[in-house]
Amino acid sequence: MSDSSPGSPGRRTVLCGVALTGAAGLGLTACSGGDGGRAPAVPTAPVDLGAADAVPVGGARLYREKKLVVSQPSEGDYKAFSAVCTHAGCVLTSVKELEADCTCHGSLFDTTSGEVLAGPAGAPLPSVPVRVENGRLVAGPGD
Ligand code: FES
Repeated sequence: MSDSSPGSPGRRTVLCGVALTGAAGLGLTACSGGDGGRAPAVPTAPVDLGAADAVPVGGARLYREKKLVVSQPSEGDYKAFSAVCTHAGCVLTSVKELEADCTCHGSLFDTTSGEVLAGPAGAPLPSVPVRVENGRLVAGPGD
């Protein structure tokens, strides 16, 4: 009964390949793991996300090209997470208020905690350190 892990590598590869067809190659790293999601989904160096005020208070912004999602539940309180879906590695699709969705299979995440609001994803989005430097958002490890 439990002789296979959730989502065989072959099936995942096919799904990611389909997802990438219309995304001009974005998310290739996220889909190329095939190892159950062990590929790094968080930045290993600081990432400049641009103006901090681009993230609305009480809302979130998706940085698909950087594979990050940032929310600002209250003024000046920023939360950042990997935007690589913990289900099968697609990059999240969009945000609405404080929720982010992955249309690959329909998972929904809370952008203030990373928690799963709706599956099939079973694990929260990994948290990423974020700070404001001279009015710009910088995610990832500090210097
Ligand atoms: S990769 Fe399946 S719901 Fe996101």
